[in-house]
Amino acid sequence: MVKHRVLSGIRATGRLHLGNYFGAVKGMLALQNDPDYETLYMVADVHTLTTPYTIEELRKNRREVILDYLAAGLDPKKSILFQQAEVNEHIELAFYFSSVVTIAKMQHLPTFKDKVKQYPEHATMALLNYPILMAADILVYKASLVPVGIDQEPHLEVAREIARRMNQDYGTDFPEPKRFATKGEYIPSLTGEGKMSKSVEGSYINLTDDLETIRKKIRSVPTATTAGGEMPVGVKTLFAFLNLVDPGLVEKFQKTYDAGTLKFVELKDHVAEAISKELQPFQQKRKELEEDTAYVDRVIAEGAEKARAIAQKTVKEVREKMGLLS
Ligand code: TYM
Repeated sequence: MVKHRVLSGIRATGRLHLGNYFGAVKGMLALQNDPDYETLYMVADVHTLTTPYTIEELRKNRREVILDYLAAGLDPKKSILFQQAEVNEHIELAFYFSSVVTIAKMQHLPTFKDKVKQYPEHATMALLNYPILMAADILVYKASLVPVGIDQEPHLEVAREIARRMNQDYGTDFPEPKRFATKGEYIPSLTGEGKMSKSVEGSYINLTDDLETIRKKIRSVPTATTAGGEMPVGVKTLFAFLNLVDPGLVEKFQKTYDAGTLKFVELKDHVAEAISKELQPFQQKRKELEEDTAYVDRVIAEGAEKARAIAQKTVKEVREKMGLLS
């Protein structure tokens, strides 16, 4: 049976947070452990160039994400783990793809507009090209399934459009990639506004946070003075977390909320403890991996080699079909 291929990535912008974990990593793990899928997971280090960054941080983070992957249970025996910048074919294919995409289309994407608002001084061509490079990341492996959070849906729509255009215009056989959704496809911000995001201070919990830090952060989620009635956003957020880390208790807390007897601090401390418990195996494994430099180096080198072999084949095919090889 032909295996379906899966590709996903996380930008090298710092430590992973709960949004990355529940929205992406959980899905990456589920597909890695399903024998019907061949899985490739990368660090999107080239995508990091699309917003302001420091060279030193990038150098560090492109390795840290590999450590996070390994600590979360991604296994180089089952998945190809690699750094995007090690496979030049992504960038080459992105350029070919850019010839079937209009500027207007890219300028109207909500993800582009948001980033321009956030970094008005940094509306670069690299930022405009972000979704095209992402399409190349996926399609260079002809991956049909992409475990990512719901915020990535507009980018996947672009990838599908590119696949269709390339197939129509040049007779390639790219699949139209679909999102693989997890239960945590949208993790809200701790501030009670929008989604959890690395670029919004006070919005996130890092996977490496200890219990005290998590408790402090969860206690800062805005709630109401009394329970009962329509749930304010912050309370909804707490219930969303509870549903992910200790779903068996949702009903009990919901009942006390409806009865108006819920003490928010009790719910908060319970959620904090359950999150910390969920993260313990990750934190333990990460400490061990930090000591094992040689192993991590080997994973990175072997991953790049395996990914390259697949990517080179696709790019050669595309060059041929587009008239760039005689
Ligand atoms: P990045 O680094 O912004 O996010 C990495 C992953 O985490 C998910 N995520 C969330 N999920 C649920 N709730 C949240 N609050 C939350 N915040 C982040 C994102 O949906 C994503 O899955 N464009 C990608 C990186 C990328 C990529 C790719 C992904 C580059 N090339 C090819 C898949 C395939 C991104 O924004 O990463």
